[in-house]
Amino acid sequence: MLRLDHVSKSFGLGAFGSRSFLAVDDVSLRVAPGEVVSLIGESGSGKSTIGKMILRLLPVSSGSITFQGEDVSTHTGKALKAYYRRVQGVFQDPFSSYNPIFTVDHALDLVRREYLGDLSGQEWRRRLTSVLETVSINAGEVLGKYPHQLSGGQLQRLLIARALMLDLRFLVADEIISMLDASTRIDVLNLLGDLKTRGLGILFITHDLSLGNYISDRTVILRHGAVVEMGATGLVFGNPCHPYTRALLSAVPQLHARWGAAPEQQAPPVPGGSAPGRQAPGTPGATTTAVPPAGLVATVERSRTAPGRRAALVEIEDDHFVAPTGNG
Ligand SMILES: Nc1ncnc2c1ncn2[C@@H]1O[C@H](COP(=O)(O)OP(=O)(O)OP(=O)(O)O)[C@@H](O)[C@H]1O
Ligand SMILES: [Mg+2]
Repeated sequence: MLRLDHVSKSFGLGAFGSRSFLAVDDVSLRVAPGEVVSLIGESGSGKSTIGKMILRLLPVSSGSITFQGEDVSTHTGKALKAYYRRVQGVFQDPFSSYNPIFTVDHALDLVRREYLGDLSGQEWRRRLTSVLETVSINAGEVLGKYPHQLSGGQLQRLLIARALMLDLRFLVADEIISMLDASTRIDVLNLLGDLKTRGLGILFITHDLSLGNYISDRTVILRHGAVVEMGATGLVFGNPCHPYTRALLSAVPQLHARWGAAPEQQAPPVPGGSAPGRQAPGTPGATTTAVPPAGLVATVERSRTAPGRRAALVEIEDDHFVAPTGNG
């Protein structure tokens, strides 16, 4: 459905762009229909830049992004509008996505005017009612209100509803729950789970490993703009092979541990590399730091490349790819 092939993005720095900074470095990934792929990495690793390139908010510097077989970068005019009917983004801060001087209905009206002008009033209302039901919003409680009168969760769900009014096939969800409280988070996460079962492809951008583990089928770990490990979520979390992935996993605070207490012993190797069961985020042990089988680590180590050169990822088991450690 959505493919990135060798996508890089460099930004010009300095007064005349004389220096450049490589924010995304040769990233290739795929998202299938009905699949949630988590893009995980620390702040500044290039996650939002990838999301923005998919949404055509930034051009790629090299490589290609294709959606349903079409190169996204070539879309203009009608084709771009058709693309936005199928591909939409929702971002971290729901408040900044609304104009505070209008009621939230205004945000929906804009979509109607831009994309759905040919719907009759009755068809529009029918579609709106059904979409609001999908995102568990009670129209009476939300419509006609100003953004400051609603909760972050309601605003976020309304933004997802707005995207669903279109013929949505793919959603870029960039840190969409990081500003929500714990109970609303799970609602919005579960909503994404529902959408996935309806065939929507979702790129779920987060720096929170446990959220990625909870929601996604596949996981991509990004570091300094490059993929260091990716594959089926159970394999990446249950059998992390890149030192960076292991470091990220071991840095996750354990809810049942107390600050200042000695860190827990690492879990024993997972026999045959099998994955731990999925658990809700925040559940103790939701992200287990398993030690990968020594043979797999050796394969990764052997693939070390000369500094400054990026080698292809190594497929260490079915649907589990790891960057040679020399890659950075
Ligand atoms: N328009 C821009 N011009 C120059 N540098 C940029 C621009 N946009 C992003 N960057 C840089 O690119 C890098 C990646 O930024 P990006 O926003 O993609 O990170 P991120 O992984 O989304 O981080 P966070 O978790 O903090 O949102 C950062 O070093 C950032 O400073
Ligand atoms: Mg970001």
